[in-house]
Amino acid sequence: MRVLLVGGGGREHALAWRLDQSPRVRRIFTTHPENPGIASLADPVGFPFNVKEAYRLRQFCDREKVNLVVIGPEAPLAAGLADALEASGRAVVGPGAKGAQIEASKAWSKAFMRAASIPTADGRAFDNAHDAKRWIESREHAPVVKASGLAAGKGVIVPKTIEEALDAVDRIMSKREFADAGAEIVVEECLDGREASVFALVDGRTILMLDACQDHKRLLDYDEGPNTGGMGAYSPARVLDDEMMTRVEREIILPTVDALRRDGIDYRGVLYVGIMLTHAGPKVLEYNARFGDPECQTLMPRLIGDLADLLWRTASGSLEDAEIDWDRRSSCCVVIASEGYPEKPVTGRPISGIEDALAMDDVHVFHAGTAMDKQGALVSVGGRVLSVVALADDLAGAREKANAACACITLEGAQHRSDIGAKAI
Ligand code: AMP
Ligand code: GLY
Repeated sequence: MRVLLVGGGGREHALAWRLDQSPRVRRIFTTHPENPGIASLADPVGFPFNVKEAYRLRQFCDREKVNLVVIGPEAPLAAGLADALEASGRAVVGPGAKGAQIEASKAWSKAFMRAASIPTADGRAFDNAHDAKRWIESREHAPVVKASGLAAGKGVIVPKTIEEALDAVDRIMSKREFADAGAEIVVEECLDGREASVFALVDGRTILMLDACQDHKRLLDYDEGPNTGGMGAYSPARVLDDEMMTRVEREIILPTVDALRRDGIDYRGVLYVGIMLTHAGPKVLEYNARFGDPECQTLMPRLIGDLADLLWRTASGSLEDAEIDWDRRSSCCVVIASEGYPEKPVTGRPISGIEDALAMDDVHVFHAGTAMDKQGALVSVGGRVLSVVALADDLAGAREKANAACACITLEGAQHRSDIGAKAI
C-alpha cells in the first residue's frame, strides 16, 4: 500500500506510527512534513497543504499511485477533500462533505438526530440572536449554547445562569468569538452525567466499535479553566462497561449509520460520538467525523492488529470480516501545551528531554505543535505541543508513568494536567 496521510498534529503522528508498522504499507506520504514526528515516518508531498487546491493532491496521488488516503482533521473533510480524492483503485478514510456535516454543522446534526430519533439533548438551532434569546428566556434552566460551525472543540459555552446563557449568545453571534462558526447557534438542554468518547469505524454499512476512551477538555486539573481541544485522555474508559457499550452501539451508532444511508450518504471513515451517560440512558453531545485528538494517541498504542488493513477495509467497504483486538493494559495520554493556550499560545520556545521520556518502557511521545528551527533545534509552534502516552497494567500506573515522562520534558511555561484519569481511578 502507498498511503497519503493528511494532517499534521499528534493524532496524525500516532496514525503514521501505527501505519508504519504494517507489513502491507510500502510508503507513507505526508502533507505536513514540518511535524518532525511525522517527517521521521513519511515522505513530504512536496508542496504546501491548501485544501482549496485539492487538484494538486489528486495529481500527486495519481502520479505516486497512492491507493489509500487517510484524512485526520475535520476541516479538509468538511471542505470536501474526500470527495475530491476518491478514485477507482484508491480508497479514502473520511466522509465526503455531506457526511462531514455531522460535525461541521451542529444545526444539521441536531436536525439529523431529531429526524432519526437518536437520543440527544433537546435543542433548537437559531440564525438570529433575538429569537435565540427569547427562547432562552422562556426556559427554566440555563441551556448550553454552541456555535454551529467548526471551532476546534472550543465553540461550546455551558452557562450557569440564564443571564450567562444570554451573554453566550452575544459572545458567539454578535462578538463572533468563534468567527463564522457562530453565524448559526444551537441552544440545548444541559445534560448531567459522565462523559465518554466512543469511536467506530464505518465502511458505509458495517461498523466496527473501537475501545472507549475519555477525553479531558478543560485546561486545568479537576476540570477547571476554559475548554480546549483536549488536554489528555485515557483508555479503556470503564465508565462504559460492556453493557453500556452495547447500548451505545444499538441505540446510537447503528441508528446513526442507518440514517446516514437513508439520507443517501455513503459514510466511510471514523465516527466519533461524544456521549453523556444520563439517568435516562446515553445521549449524544456531539458527533465528529474523525478520530479525536488526543483520544487517537491513547488508543493507537493499545491497538493489536494491522491499522492499514483496518483503514483499507473501512474505506473500501469490507469491514465485515475485519479483526481487531486491544492490549488489556491501560494507557494514559497527557498533552503538553504552550504557555497561554488556549487563548494565546506563546510559541518559538526550545523543547528538550524527549529522548529521556522515550527511554522509559512503554512510553510514546507524539509531536503536535513542534518544528525544527533554522539551527535544527526542536521548538514549539502551536498550542498543543506534545502528547505523552504511557501504558501500564492499570490506569493508576499509566498515569504515574505518563506524569513521570512529562517531567523529563522541558518547555518554558508549559502547561499540562496531572489528573488525567484520576476520577476513574
Ligand atoms: P461538544 O463540542 O459539543 O462535545 O461540547 C464540548 C463540551 O461541552 C462537552 O464535552 C461537554 O462537556 C459540554 N457539553 C456539550 N453539550 C452539552 C450539554 N447538552 N449538556 C452538558 N454539557 C454539554
Ligand atoms: N478531543 C476532542 C476532539 O478531538 O474533538
